[in-house]
Amino acid sequence: MAFIIRAQNVSFCYSEGESKSPPVLKDINLQFEKGEFIGIIGHNGSGKSTLAKHFNALLLPTKGNVYVKDMDTKDAKHLWDIRQTAGLVFQNPDNQIVAAIVEEDVAFGPENLGIPPEEIRKRVEYALKAVGMWEYKDFPPHMLSGGQKQRVAIAGIIAMKPECIVLDEPTAMLDPIGRREVISTIKKLNKEEGITVILITHFMEEVVDADRVIVMDDGKVVLDGTPKEVFKEVEVLKKIGLDVPQVTELAHQLRKEGIDIPSDILTIEEMVEFICR
Ligand SMILES: Nc1ncnc2c1ncn2[C@@H]1O[C@H](COP(=O)(O)OP(=O)(O)OP(=O)(O)O)[C@@H](O)[C@H]1O
Ligand SMILES: [Mg+2]
Repeated sequence: MAFIIRAQNVSFCYSEGESKSPPVLKDINLQFEKGEFIGIIGHNGSGKSTLAKHFNALLLPTKGNVYVKDMDTKDAKHLWDIRQTAGLVFQNPDNQIVAAIVEEDVAFGPENLGIPPEEIRKRVEYALKAVGMWEYKDFPPHMLSGGQKQRVAIAGIIAMKPECIVLDEPTAMLDPIGRREVISTIKKLNKEEGITVILITHFMEEVVDADRVIVMDDGKVVLDGTPKEVFKEVEVLKKIGLDVPQVTELAHQLRKEGIDIPSDILTIEEMVEFICR
């Protein structure tokens, strides 16, 4: 089995020694397969961003190990290979865009990797087309909407040809249109380009058709399964302060009232189909 990322008994504290802080990751074990679309959800402060930063060696485990394609993130000689394999996209596109023109911004990463100019041009074109922003290549980023800026930031990562992208709440600062643009771009990169996607989000709808959903609470993985397996655990999710998709909640309430309805309904279509039967 080809795992792109593995976390083995990972614990993490922000500070050690005298002023030791309590662990924010507690014995995490996870394996991600190449090509998977994984959603990570969890309450504020549950450790999602801290975990994400372990996936490209921005943080190193206090205990345990993280492997990116069998490269131990603690092994300094692999740092650039790791960063190139797993790219990180953050919440605020304004903090990720560095150049005055879209095209130059996307070229920035590959330039830093020392890639020859001809190859950079090809990659910039490929990346901007992949996120549907090629026609904006000559625009200054400040002229773009939030969703468009975030797609440019994603193109900047794609131009490094990563096998995996980790997105930490990439839609949190966007309006509904921007959110839709970004999510459909991410899905397309996964389906058409085969890029492994790890998507951290507070929006449950963004992960209902992921291959797998991981739920974190207090530095631990509390649920890990298909969206259907995870979202039918309505009581567990509520206890740790998470919502479930509205239709799942409705199905849950109907079951409580004694109506024989499947507990793993996730979409309006499934609900309609069940009710009309
Ligand atoms: N740089 C830091 N130094 C010390 N503690 C930190 C640091 N960053 C985060 N923490 C703490 O680590 C814990 C986990 O934080 P983290 O940001 O990983 O959670 P999160 O699940 O991403 O939350 P959110 O949904 O708000 O983004 C929290 O208790 C937080 O206060
Ligand atoms: Mg976070």
